[in-house]
Amino acid sequence: MLKIGFIGVGGIAGRHIANLKQLGRSEFVAFCDIAEEKAKQAVSENGGNAYTDFNEMLDKEKLDAVFICTPPFVRAEPIASASAKGVAIFSEKPPAFNSEQGKTGVNAIKKAGIINSVGFMYRWLMTVAKAKELMKGKKISAIRSVFLCGPAVHLNIPGWFFIREKSGGPLMDQAIHVLDLHRYLAGEVTKIHAFGNNMIQPKRADFTTEETIVMDLQFDSGIIGSHTHSWACDVAMAQVEIISDYSRFTIDLFANSIFGTLEGAQINEKMTDNCYLTEVDNFLTAVEKKDQSILRSSYQDAVNTCAVTWAGLESIDSGEVKTPLRF
Ligand SMILES: NC(=O)c1ccc[n+]([C@@H]2O[C@H](COP(=O)([O-])OP(=O)(O)OC[C@H]3O[C@@H](n4cnc5c(N)ncnc54)[C@H](O)[C@@H]3O)[C@@H](O)[C@H]2O)c1
Repeated sequence: MLKIGFIGVGGIAGRHIANLKQLGRSEFVAFCDIAEEKAKQAVSENGGNAYTDFNEMLDKEKLDAVFICTPPFVRAEPIASASAKGVAIFSEKPPAFNSEQGKTGVNAIKKAGIINSVGFMYRWLMTVAKAKELMKGKKISAIRSVFLCGPAVHLNIPGWFFIREKSGGPLMDQAIHVLDLHRYLAGEVTKIHAFGNNMIQPKRADFTTEETIVMDLQFDSGIIGSHTHSWACDVAMAQVEIISDYSRFTIDLFANSIFGTLEGAQINEKMTDNCYLTEVDNFLTAVEKKDQSILRSSYQDAVNTCAVTWAGLESIDSGEVKTPLRF
């Protein structure tokens, strides 16, 4: 049984805890949250010891792996501390808040030689694997995607999400998932041009982020792409469309389906896999076998996706076309 600790026991941690329980190959050894009641609640439900200081937890407990599920403004330090202790890391996205943190994290993890994975769970979806298979040998011209949901309509998620200086806004927090798929399917991004607006929630002290973003992308491969993202549309959807000379098909991330036209034939498949479960299952296997190669989103690769979001934010602010850094 792998000995697991958690840093941050909020929304996403609950999902990982449930999946770890279902997989049944790990033991909950420690939970840390600055909100002590959350750490204690997790301990009462799952066992282990409660902490409010992750450095103390890492000092006192012998962990095989740690799940870092804090907000992004508490990401660099847990990554540095866990790396220094040689503990395998599953980090939630975004993996770093800025390029300096990304570079430091990549170096620390490399030096420690630990198993590392970032929560880009859509890479594990069977529909995404199917899309990759269908793309093989085809001349892909464009990828376009859209992700709409309503937190800026309802203001019903923790307030830090709406502070761009804490979350990076919809781009760094959520569009990052789809931009990661763009990279996974089309390769590295060379140029990005992005715009943002606030038609529903004007910017103010407790809402400093753009709520809707549109961006154009150019890839090394020659493919061009676009992504539209909104936190201000309560008619949710998340789709990625692949465009080729005789094919056009769409991955629906919420419905977990893939549909469209493939060289004259209609495709319409619905899958039932749980990508959150699959990513954690594979992370545990990688730790058990000490095999990083089976993982689809290493920390370094994830920082390269993060760099696309940083370039996007710079483009929104400057109005200029930007080139993402590479790590
Ligand atoms: N992959 C996904 O689909 C997905 C979904 C939701 C959230 N996330 C990511 O997970 C991260 C957390 O999001 P969430 O929705 O769970 O947020 P949350 O606010 O619900 O939970 C974060 C928890 O971290 C705790 N925390 C803050 N500072 C801490 C510190 N110094 N030490 C220990 N604990 C600390 C908070 O008290 C809180 O309980 C974010 O980066 C978010 O982008 C990913």
